[in-house]
Amino acid sequence: MKSRDRLRIAMQKSGRLTEPAQELLARCGLKFRQSRDKLFCFGEGEPVDLLLVRDDDIPGLIAEGVCDLGIVGRNVLREFQLSQPEPGEGLAELRSLGFGRCRLSIAVPHEDGYDGPAQLDGRAIATSYPGLLGEWLRSHGVAARVVYLAGSVEIAPRLGTADAICDLVSSGATLVANQLREAAVVIESEAVLAGRRDLPADERGEIAELLLRRLDGVIQVRD
Ligand code: PRP
Ligand code: ZN
Ligand code: MG
Repeated sequence: MKSRDRLRIAMQKSGRLTEPAQELLARCGLKFRQSRDKLFCFGEGEPVDLLLVRDDDIPGLIAEGVCDLGIVGRNVLREFQLSQPEPGEGLAELRSLGFGRCRLSIAVPHEDGYDGPAQLDGRAIATSYPGLLGEWLRSHGVAARVVYLAGSVEIAPRLGTADAICDLVSSGATLVANQLREAAVVIESEAVLAGRRDLPADERGEIAELLLRRLDGVIQVRD
């Protein structure tokens, strides 16, 4: 890995976290040369650059050292941690950022009703979060089959590929549109700042610390 002296932050290229993440960085005094269609945004004042990517790729990019920090949903970060041989090592949630609040929930067809975890025993549940769902199933003593889908999870019950789903719920509109009812919350999520457990012990580490201090100031003012 080529050594870098500029800090690199990964964030979602286009999605719900994009605008609030950009606003947050602006409030921390960071300015980037506009390059809307590009993946890489060069920082103008501080030596901090942005990488605009798919949210699901952010934890891996940090773990591999391509980026130092990332703004990503807790759900994506935790799922990545669970996929690692030592989930407690490597990446950490450095700060919770207070926007992009949603929950990862299990939902069942509306007409089924829900009377507790045991109802899911022996059933198939579609999700993009097999690690988080698996953890919930184990902790509730439920033996269900986890069907992995990268997207459009909410359609699985109607297609007959699953009996239930486990997906993000924000406004709840997607569940309503697909005649599903929320049954159980697996985790509460929001945007977080993710980073490796040890910040780089060089200039980048110093920039990261400066940024964290500014971030704490911004978060305090807002709360
Ligand atoms: C999530 C989730 C649902 C939707 C729920 O997808 O997969 O489809 O949001 O939100 P609602 O309760 O407000 O309807 P999202 O589009 O955020 O991201 P994705 O493309 O990574 O699935
Ligand atoms: Zn995504
Ligand atoms: Mg979706």
